[in-house]
Amino acid sequence: MRKPIIAGNWKMNKTPAEGAALVNELKPLVQDAECDVVVCVPATDIYAVSEAVKGSNIHLGAQNVHFAESGAYTGEISADMLLALGVEYVIIGHSERRQYFGETDETVNKRTLTALNKGLIPIVCIGETLEERETGKTEEVLRRQTVEGLKGVEDLTKLVIAYEPVWAIGTGRTATSEQANETIGFIRKVIAETFCPKCAAAVRIQYGGSMKGSNAKELMAQEEIDGGLIGGASLKAPDFAQVVNYNK
Ligand code: PGA
Repeated sequence: MRKPIIAGNWKMNKTPAEGAALVNELKPLVQDAECDVVVCVPATDIYAVSEAVKGSNIHLGAQNVHFAESGAYTGEISADMLLALGVEYVIIGHSERRQYFGETDETVNKRTLTALNKGLIPIVCIGETLEERETGKTEEVLRRQTVEGLKGVEDLTKLVIAYEPVWAIGTGRTATSEQANETIGFIRKVIAETFCPKCAAAVRIQYGGSMKGSNAKELMAQEEIDGGLIGGASLKAPDFAQVVNYNK
């Protein structure tokens, strides 16, 4: 019932030419994918990649969006600007933005509401730090990020959630598939209690954090896990294709 979705998060990597080349190499490798395939690229790559994905099953995503319609926000990018270039998805509240760029649950919520109003599909990231996990705060943190970040969202099925334990991002340290499954189950429970049981059952929740070809199959076999947000392993076409084709 929930269609799996594998999204690459290129972070601050690839020039436009490199991005287009990566997508051109990727296209034949993922053309028979049974899941939704997305690449979330740096803003400067959006135009080149939007041309490269044309006619393929690869969907285009951005890595952030501002909540205002337009105006005096130097360095920011609006939803309309993304939509004009064929962007469909947008990552919101990635832990790196929370850690280095002052992103809070409140700004995540504002960006999410704007993205949804405009017809973009937000990939809203939540996740606990190592310290939070070790001091028993995982559930409290995830509950707060979910409830505050998604406040006022009318139709939760129009977005995707990415559960990314911060300690597993770029560290080679993956949550075990049972850990990831259990935690995503908890997020679903919070959504059922706070929003509605029906949308909790329908919303797609990805796992992210050192997910790669060698562990994708096991993670994806878990009942609660509907996809992956892939950093490092999305930067080379064969590596990303291996994740996308996890069931082959
Ligand atoms: P990683 O990054 O796959 O390199 O751990 C995931 C992410 O930050 O989205």
